[in-house]
Amino acid sequence: MALLPILHYPDPRLRKIAKPVTRFDERLRALVDNMAQTMYDANGVGLAATQVDVHERVIVIDTSDTRDQLQVFVNPRILGASPVRRLSEEGCLSVPGVYDEVERPESVTVEAEDERGRTFRLEAEQLLAVCIQHEMDHLTGKVFVEYLSQLKQTRIRSRMRKLDRDIA
Ligand code: NI
Repeated sequence: MALLPILHYPDPRLRKIAKPVTRFDERLRALVDNMAQTMYDANGVGLAATQVDVHERVIVIDTSDTRDQLQVFVNPRILGASPVRRLSEEGCLSVPGVYDEVERPESVTVEAEDERGRTFRLEAEQLLAVCIQHEMDHLTGKVFVEYLSQLKQTRIRSRMRKLDRDIA
């Protein structure tokens, strides 16, 4: 397993559209393992392949307190969403240190394949529902800060540029 570098907003590679996975092979399983390790190492609850510059529809999530309930979503699709929307605070490993409220449907029904190609369906609510929607946005090139006001986005971009300068 290996830790993968995480792209930071506003890196233009975060805007790429991920392609569906067609081969459920060892390469995919290695990607999933590396993404999981990268997510746990960074103390995140979710990571999309886009964030590690792999433009395929793969997401890993673990919303458990014990950090041992990995959920893998390959080619995820939303089958239904609650008409009730709820504000909740989000953060993102690609935008470190930034947290803000985003409004989304409070529950979603999602279907996906696991890393072996087995299809499953689940009803997600609360943090898991937020997380699935947040990570699926990454697969279509969207970062959560794009839901915020233009003023906030401008501030976040300059803050991130300074952070990346300080790291470099
Ligand atoms: Ni994110």
